[in-house]
Amino acid sequence: MQTEQKENSRLSWMTLTDTITSVDQGTDIIQGLTQAPKTLPCRYFYDDRGSELFEQICDLPEYYPTRTEQAILETYALEIAQMTGSCNLIELGSGSSRKTRLLLEAYSQFSQDLQYCPIDVSAGILKTTALDLLRQYPNLKLCGLAGTYEQALAQLPLAELENRMLIFLGSTLGNLDDQQCHKFFTQVQQALKPGEFFLLGVDLQKPIEIVTAAYNDSEGVTAAFNLNILQHLNQRFQGNFDLDKFAHLAFYNSLENQIEMHLKSLKTQTAVLENLDFEVSFQQGETIRTEISRKFHLPTLISTLEKHAFEPLQIWTDSQAWFGLLLCQRQCTTQECP
Ligand code: AVJ
Repeated sequence: MQTEQKENSRLSWMTLTDTITSVDQGTDIIQGLTQAPKTLPCRYFYDDRGSELFEQICDLPEYYPTRTEQAILETYALEIAQMTGSCNLIELGSGSSRKTRLLLEAYSQFSQDLQYCPIDVSAGILKTTALDLLRQYPNLKLCGLAGTYEQALAQLPLAELENRMLIFLGSTLGNLDDQQCHKFFTQVQQALKPGEFFLLGVDLQKPIEIVTAAYNDSEGVTAAFNLNILQHLNQRFQGNFDLDKFAHLAFYNSLENQIEMHLKSLKTQTAVLENLDFEVSFQQGETIRTEISRKFHLPTLISTLEKHAFEPLQIWTDSQAWFGLLLCQRQCTTQECP
């Protein structure tokens, strides 16, 4: 772990590294591409270009999640701040922190001390956002962490204010399958102490046409975002994926209640990732699944949360119940409170 204390005394910066996960060695990529069917970990979308494209997706008319969640936060941010009282805000996958600004506004009305720790795999967007936020909030102390969720949850910053609230918005939870979700909730449960808070934003089940359109926008931004994962691999691992020979594919899997994004090989071809000493072949029409985006059923999600010692204190949705925001509190387990 490297820490950099910036000239600005309100900003500290940390790049999280560890030797346990396979992130830096790219073995997770080899594993995904040698599977049948082929997959890639969706975190590789988010190089600086990918984060930029995702910001553009958030503004698309078809992409309802961001603006729906934003509207819920606009209405209830003050109520959230009132319920939790002063606390350190720690956000996983913060990106541009556009929705979190609403929370920062709300918390700054209750307390002089504003402490925010954004965590993102994309160091570029994290730094730009950090400097911008410091300019905007004169009483903000900010601690940026560049790393994955696993890395961050294993070394979460300690509470300096009364409590901490872990924030996970944008339905990024939907990128995890059941097993990964269980693992993630277990890590969150271990990272938080009884009484601390977990704010979770999730996309809910709704008519298929609406969901499908959100991942097949007419301007092709989502297609560019999907294809950029190959560009990122080319650049990071000296690869030669030909982006013209793959096509964006996104469809709703009704059995699993999830959008699946794939890249479809337009011909029989081979690609190499020089730095990984790895070669991969594709049949014409074969796909790589690059992302799942699950659409949640609230009662099921709530029971999963409860199994991981999280009690939902309040659940907010929009008028169409398209998106849900859950404020949960970490409970004592029987071992902790005999
Ligand atoms: C940020 C992961 C929640 O699944 O909707 C947007 C990413 N992918 N368009 C989502 C995404 C395609 C987004 N998440």
